[in-house]
Amino acid sequence: MKPFARFHQYRTDQATRDRHATVRLAPADLIVPLFVVPGTDIRRPIPSLDGVCHLSIDQAVQEARRIHGRGFGAVLLFGVPDPADRSPLAPGATDPDGLVPRAIRAIRQAVPGLTVMTDVCICAWTDHGHCGLLQPGQPGTQPGIDNDATLPVLAAMAASHALAGAQWVAPSAMMDGQVAAIRQALDAQGCHSTRILGYSTKFASAFYGPFRDAAASAPACGDRQAYQMDCRAPDQASGEAQADLDEGAAAIMVKPAIHYLDIICRLRQQFPAATLAAYHVSGEYMMLRAAADRGLVDEARGFREALMAIKRAGADWIITYAADRVFP
Ligand code: PBG
Repeated sequence: MKPFARFHQYRTDQATRDRHATVRLAPADLIVPLFVVPGTDIRRPIPSLDGVCHLSIDQAVQEARRIHGRGFGAVLLFGVPDPADRSPLAPGATDPDGLVPRAIRAIRQAVPGLTVMTDVCICAWTDHGHCGLLQPGQPGTQPGIDNDATLPVLAAMAASHALAGAQWVAPSAMMDGQVAAIRQALDAQGCHSTRILGYSTKFASAFYGPFRDAAASAPACGDRQAYQMDCRAPDQASGEAQADLDEGAAAIMVKPAIHYLDIICRLRQQFPAATLAAYHVSGEYMMLRAAADRGLVDEARGFREALMAIKRAGADWIITYAADRVFP
């Protein structure tokens, strides 16, 4: 018999497997999304997103304290305003004393050691649910997005978050030039060390469904294919990422994560020195949750394997709803 390789020697026991493991996942790698709503003493489970709640600011502070205590890396704040505060030009999004700036101040004051990141996009603040301002058009048809008119709104929104104390702002609107516009506005306000996490390669995805229920941010008509990336066009990823880095992003992102591991891998190879985040999105989280409910997959192991895949592909940080399930 020909000699053959003995791979089992790397797997004999836990300590040996640990010694040969080169991919690591730590609580500090994980970024936990928080959904902030108006009011007080509200901790309302989100039906589409198991284990995640709508939190009023006081409850978000408690949750932030717990997350910091668990050693997770950061929180990512999403504002979910009342329907009455949603209108075509999204003025609520830029209010320096609005829901998100107030939440930032409260969390920064109560939990100063925790890194606070914020989502910068107007889809939850417009009545039409699109990520940019609309050009006039026919009701009920796919509306045109006014990219350039949206930039000052995103810039003002980011500045209001930075002035309230957010250390990172994360623009997710997929408007061209948004990182440059935000960087300029931050610098104009003296917020030179507020960093930008660019949602550089964000694909038009079916896997945002549970989030859009959570944020009530589904577009009222049309879809986001005119500004989010096409899953059949992976070659655009490096240009999108390069543009964000050129415009001043301190970190870049791939979103969704599990279905775009190849994109994570590409960007890791093309930008070896860049800080790379990946968003394990709501639909990716809930499909595993649903499988676990049916007894098809062991939940903790399934989530661990999924997050490990994202790290193995090359992500430094993972935004995920599964942090507590992986590190109970
Ligand atoms: C807002 C935004 C979305 C997500 C994050 N920021 C929704 C979208 O683009 O439709 C999705 C996050 C998730 O699914 O977990 N633009």
